Amino acid sequence: MDRILVKGGSELAGEIPISGAKNACLALMPAALLTQQPLILTNAPALSDISMMRKLLTSFGCEVDGSQNNRILTISAERISNHIAEYEIVRKMRASILVLGPLLARDHKAVVSLPGGCAIGARPVDVHLEGLEAMGALLELKDGYIFAEVKGGLTAVDYTFPLVSVGATENLIMASTLAKGTSFLRNCALEPEITDLCNCLKAMGAKISGTGTSTIIIEGVSSLNGTTHAVILDRIELGTYMLAPAIAGGKVLLLGGKLELVNSFTDILSKTGCQVIESEMGITVESSKKGINPVNISTAPYPGFPTDLQAQMMALLTLSNGVSKLEENIFENRFMHAPELNRMGANILVDGGTATVTGVSRLKGAQVMATDLRASISLILAALGAQGETIISRVYHLDRGYENVTAKLSACGARIKRLSS
Ligand code: EPZ
Repeated sequence: MDRILVKGGSELAGEIPISGAKNACLALMPAALLTQQPLILTNAPALSDISMMRKLLTSFGCEVDGSQNNRILTISAERISNHIAEYEIVRKMRASILVLGPLLARDHKAVVSLPGGCAIGARPVDVHLEGLEAMGALLELKDGYIFAEVKGGLTAVDYTFPLVSVGATENLIMASTLAKGTSFLRNCALEPEITDLCNCLKAMGAKISGTGTSTIIIEGVSSLNGTTHAVILDRIELGTYMLAPAIAGGKVLLLGGKLELVNSFTDILSKTGCQVIESEMGITVESSKKGINPVNISTAPYPGFPTDLQAQMMALLTLSNGVSKLEENIFENRFMHAPELNRMGANILVDGGTATVTGVSRLKGAQVMATDLRASISLILAALGAQGETIISRVYHLDRGYENVTAKLSACGARIKRLSS
């Protein structure tokens, strides 16, 4: 398995291009199942999760063209020959559950493996299933699979999500586009990736109003067309790389960055003492000249502080000149980066959903292990600000959600390289 070697201590200077959003693309790709015409996605990120979704759609009989390099995916679901999402794929990429709504809407049947848990939590899909049942789907759980069918097609629903769920919101929006009648989906998640999905669906002919609010209204139509849609910028990658100069020192321009995508995160980053400036080129972050201030964060659904940036912010706060408290409210086990950061000399105490980070004057390079996607990049950020060499193992986690990390960071002066096994 590949590892990444980082030699800390280099200040950063330069530009980092921000790629298309993994979490937008993983919802946009299943949307292709809603039409027999080609859906063309531009600005698609070259990530292993995207390749996995591509593999899943191909297993249904879809044609998915386009090299990873040119970032253009052309997905044609003209013919669906298989409606089974196999465990082998679903277990590796939980977003596979997002094919359930579109397959039911289009062909009134689907067999999808239950995703199972993952490193950061149990991550059940009960809300996805409850919502689809409310739309008339008959669901049976057997041998670890969801057997779903709906005679005569889905029916529109007035449904209030019992909790804010990004994936369940996306599944039901896609299912409602072809349902009979007008659906009212209430207590929807507000993430920008959902707005991006709605914009794409509207371009395909869906009748959606309330985009960007917690109540989305969808008038079902008989069919949808293909379209060409540019995947929204990845706000989590953006926030991640905004932290690189904050930790390593220096000044970096994040190309294409927009503050509107990272408002609550930027408020916190500014409180630590960094300078954050937006221009038409993107967002420039310059490290604090007077040390890193401690801050308290509490993760919440958008527009609150993103859980997907908690591990990365923790890396910065390990070097603050005080005590910070981080509350993780979305997932039950999302502090696995803490013991690895402590191996580098950090002082983090985890108690249930709260981590107390007492800043230290320096981190020391060490051998550490990535445990999940956002933990892996958190260790790289910490290594940039550490003294000496750090080797991060199990970097396959990283490849799921970050394109060309070593190229993007070394272009700004970081001493980082990938050690292929
Ligand atoms: C999406 O996951 C993202 N993944 C996650 O990003 C992100 O952390 C999460 O939203 C929260 O923002 C993609 O978009 C592919 P949820 P999702 O449904 O949809 C509970 C990353 O690092 N829940 O909003 O699975 C769930 O357990 C990944 O890029 C139920 O209980 O998240 C969690 O505690 C990690 N039942 C909370 O809701 C359900 O049926 C929020 O989950 C669904 C969710």
